[in-house]
Amino acid sequence: MADKLTLSVIKADIGGCVGHSGVHPRLLDTARQALAESDLLVDFHVAHVGDDINLIMTHRRGVDCPEIHHLAWNTFLRCTEVARELKLYGAGQDLLSDAFSGNVKGMGPGVAEMEFEERKSEPVIVFMADKTEPGAWNLPLYKMFADPFNTIGLVIDPKMHQGFRFEVYDMIENKKVVFSLPEEMYDLLVFIGAPGRYAIRAVYSKATGEMAAVSSTQRLNLMAGRYVGKDDPVCIVRCQNGLPAVGEALEPFTNPHLVAGWMRGSHTGPLMPVSVANAVPTRFDGPPRVVALGFQLANGKLVGPQDFFADVAFDRARQTANEIADYLRRLGPFEPHRLPLEDMEYTTMPEVMSRLRHRFIKVGAETQAEVAAAREELGAK
Ligand code: 13P
Ligand code: 13P
Ligand code: MG
Ligand code: MG
Repeated sequence: MADKLTLSVIKADIGGCVGHSGVHPRLLDTARQALAESDLLVDFHVAHVGDDINLIMTHRRGVDCPEIHHLAWNTFLRCTEVARELKLYGAGQDLLSDAFSGNVKGMGPGVAEMEFEERKSEPVIVFMADKTEPGAWNLPLYKMFADPFNTIGLVIDPKMHQGFRFEVYDMIENKKVVFSLPEEMYDLLVFIGAPGRYAIRAVYSKATGEMAAVSSTQRLNLMAGRYVGKDDPVCIVRCQNGLPAVGEALEPFTNPHLVAGWMRGSHTGPLMPVSVANAVPTRFDGPPRVVALGFQLANGKLVGPQDFFADVAFDRARQTANEIADYLRRLGPFEPHRLPLEDMEYTTMPEVMSRLRHRFIKVGAETQAEVAAAREELGAK
């Protein structure tokens, strides 16, 4: 419908400066220029978190619109030229293919989009994270939309009291399922408590049927079949008037929860809420960061942003995140700081194992003959 508005957030890592810590200002300028030249958009805001560029765009063309995705793709390509010239780290890292096929999904960039009728007042928050994966939104989205200890609106706002529907993606088997909360809370938690596999893709109001939140669920490592960096997800949350208040949407980030990512995409660490200025992961390439930008939409115009986590009220969360980081770092290469073997994006295990294979013998092999037989058996595998 022509009168509906679409909010699209499309993001990619086009090259880090320095290493994987930040985005060079020339890349941000290039992205702004590319979007400004287009007549497809109502408005846009170019932001970044760590080494990821986030294109926040409003338009009237619906979700999965090929022209909008193409615009984002071409914008990232132009940024890649600059990144190559400056020899930025991992230039073009998230553009997995040279040819654009109509939709950036599955091609590297992360996407969160929603189409809705702009309300009388339309406050939205764009959450953007670096050094983690889409499942990182599971815990905060659950708290915002299902936990009355976080969101008092679930108890006292008549428009929220019936609860919300949660759409969950199985990112390994590429399936989805919808849960109705609060009645299916325990069923939902069985799945979303495993954020490496199940991610909340969207949340819908039961009172109006409208989409209230949407996240990016692309898993780069699985798509590419090789290490290309973490998924570094985004999430859009609409607020107020039957939806969580802005403060209810921000509240879950006061308790920095543990997420997968951090150094080499292979560690567990606390998700630290920070301002845009402090979204520069340095210590052990982290700890993982989250930024929250608030906008009031006015006929599609992005009024803002309000850089929410710049607030001193999040100082203590940052301090807690630093304390957790100190503790986890002392574990070095041991789990649970280092991720389990199957979740790591880097591993030398196959190479080390093949080199040492002949030294492994069956436990219980005693005599020289038994040892030789056990070695032979292993060597044959
Ligand atoms: P105001 O009275 O400032 O509009 O705030 C209402 C509210 O819901 C705060 O969460
Ligand atoms: P990014 O996914 O943010 O590029 O980080 C990759 C990495 O290896 C950090 O140590
Ligand atoms: Mg990077
Ligand atoms: Mg990144």
